[in-house]
Amino acid sequence: DKGEFKHYMLKEIYEQPDAVARTVEMGATSNDLKEEFLQRHEALLAKVRNIQVLACGTSYHAGLIAKYWFENLTRLPCSVEVASEFRYRNPVVVDDTLIICLSQSGETADTLSALRETQRRAKVGEIKGLTTLSVCNVATSSLVRETDIFIPTLAGVEIGVASTKAFTTQLAALMLLVLKVGKVQQRIEPEQLSEIVTEMHKLKGQLDRSLNLDQAIEAMGQKFEAKHSTLFLGRGVQFPLALEGALKLKEISYIHAEGYAAGELKHGPLALVDKDMPIVVLAPKDSMLDKLKANMQEVHARHGELFVFASESSQLVSEERLHVIHVPDVNEHLAPIVYSIPVQFLSYHVAVMRGTDVDQPRNLAKSVTVE
Ligand code: M6R
Repeated sequence: DKGEFKHYMLKEIYEQPDAVARTVEMGATSNDLKEEFLQRHEALLAKVRNIQVLACGTSYHAGLIAKYWFENLTRLPCSVEVASEFRYRNPVVVDDTLIICLSQSGETADTLSALRETQRRAKVGEIKGLTTLSVCNVATSSLVRETDIFIPTLAGVEIGVASTKAFTTQLAALMLLVLKVGKVQQRIEPEQLSEIVTEMHKLKGQLDRSLNLDQAIEAMGQKFEAKHSTLFLGRGVQFPLALEGALKLKEISYIHAEGYAAGELKHGPLALVDKDMPIVVLAPKDSMLDKLKANMQEVHARHGELFVFASESSQLVSEERLHVIHVPDVNEHLAPIVYSIPVQFLSYHVAVMRGTDVDQPRNLAKSVTVE
């Protein structure tokens, strides 16, 4: 039931503070991981030397963010690949790899096939010490049944084809996993773990406050309604969110959108920029902000119109062709979770203005069970 909401997608955007908080609570005390979280799998997690994430669509983008976390916080190598490529390209999987399959539904054909392919290879002795893990929103799904370890996302049923709360809860679950592996293998300092857990508990409040941006972003959306093409830019952990923002916009508003690592601008996409090109920039206050400002300057100089999601405490102010939306301050690692909200609102409102079928976009299915 949509209740007071016009669409399931909007309802699901609004459910995120609670959904993310539930997922965090599953694994965390106030400043540490719960003893029982993944306790019976500690022996498996202790021997992992390499991580391979497999997923499709929005779940793939969550995987890309987890790669930054794994490598930065635990120094374990992590690769991420769309399942439809991985399954057919004869990939190398080294011994003691943890395969992480990310899926809202747990029934995505390519993700299941990619998982089965690695299991087949392990069975014939080609890969040793393989461990498989699913992060999934449907506990009874094929994916969960077929993996050694299961971490639930506690998003509740997601109905809108455009994934929202499944994505942010995947991120929360993945951060818990990163911390667990880091702890079991003593690859993360207890102080750093404690700090991140403490910050994870603040997400609910930060997400709640981000929901207040609804109307401001609706107003901003008018500038996109008649456009044919947009760019989303980010750096570091926000780069995958730029990809996700572009996917959301194209999926439900049918406007062409591309996500780019901001540092790649000069290597091609800058040629697209003119006064008709809206460019969304994900610009939280972090170690990359100065570099990002230089990228924004490049766009501004070419008369592109910038729409910047920036931290409340940053000094960024709106000026001509530069529209700043202030997002609550958030820990650098966890920023993609909070910045998901304005990104989702933007695609939602633009789609509503363009009169598309928001919850059931043309040509798409909620769960892609055929390849
Ligand atoms: O159920 P899954 O997470 O495996 O689905 C993967 C993709 O099909 C899905 O994320 C798709 O990209 C969404 N419609 C994006 O909003």
